[in-house]
Amino acid sequence: MSVFTEETRARAREIIARYPADRSRSALLPLLHLVQSEEGYVSPAGVEFCAEVLGLNKAQVGAVATFYTMYKRKPTGDYLVSVCTNTMCNVLGGQEVYDTLSEHLGVGHDETTEDGKITLEHAECLAACDYGPVMTVNYDFFDNVDPQAALGVVEELRAGGRPMPTRGARLCTLKEMAIQLAGFADERAGAVADGGPGEPTLRGVRLAEQHGISVPGFDPNTPIRSKEAEAQK
Ligand code: FES
Repeated sequence: MSVFTEETRARAREIIARYPADRSRSALLPLLHLVQSEEGYVSPAGVEFCAEVLGLNKAQVGAVATFYTMYKRKPTGDYLVSVCTNTMCNVLGGQEVYDTLSEHLGVGHDETTEDGKITLEHAECLAACDYGPVMTVNYDFFDNVDPQAALGVVEELRAGGRPMPTRGARLCTLKEMAIQLAGFADERAGAVADGGPGEPTLRGVRLAEQHGISVPGFDPNTPIRSKEAEAQK
């Protein structure tokens, strides 16, 4: 019997329906996120499920699942803490942040604390060099962290709190994030409108405004509109 619920199967059908019938294998990436949302990682059963619904073989699915670091091959904690140790963050102290967390939590790269709360990993460039050193929790950003700030975040998480990221939506669990990565909306009221972009990100917009070449009516603080709001326009 499948370990996956009927809800997951229905979501899988919805994902596959987004692609042309003769291109259904393109649905593999979101489907891998979907199975990860139920089990917390891509298990052998998850690989088998994706292969079954897409008409692929397990070797084809496994080759994709092992290529991308966002697909986890063993159970993960509720919160995936990724510390950027790539060049820019590293010269600004990223490795120190990682080492401090690793020592404090007693886990190394891709390992999970005994309470099952936190998986730590060092990450390559997280595309936020202008805020380095950065770390993400379930892919939401904590900017300009130092060892003390990073410790504060993980301690709050272990105590059951949900510290607010510097930018973007409020935190959810890794399984909940995997559903969003599979292409389903964040259903929490107002979550999509949480947090605005930071000033370094807006630098280009500000310069365009100063030079009179900005896009008319563009408002960087306007949140992404929900489907309902779009329908009411
Ligand atoms: S080097 Fe850390 S975000 Fe780019």
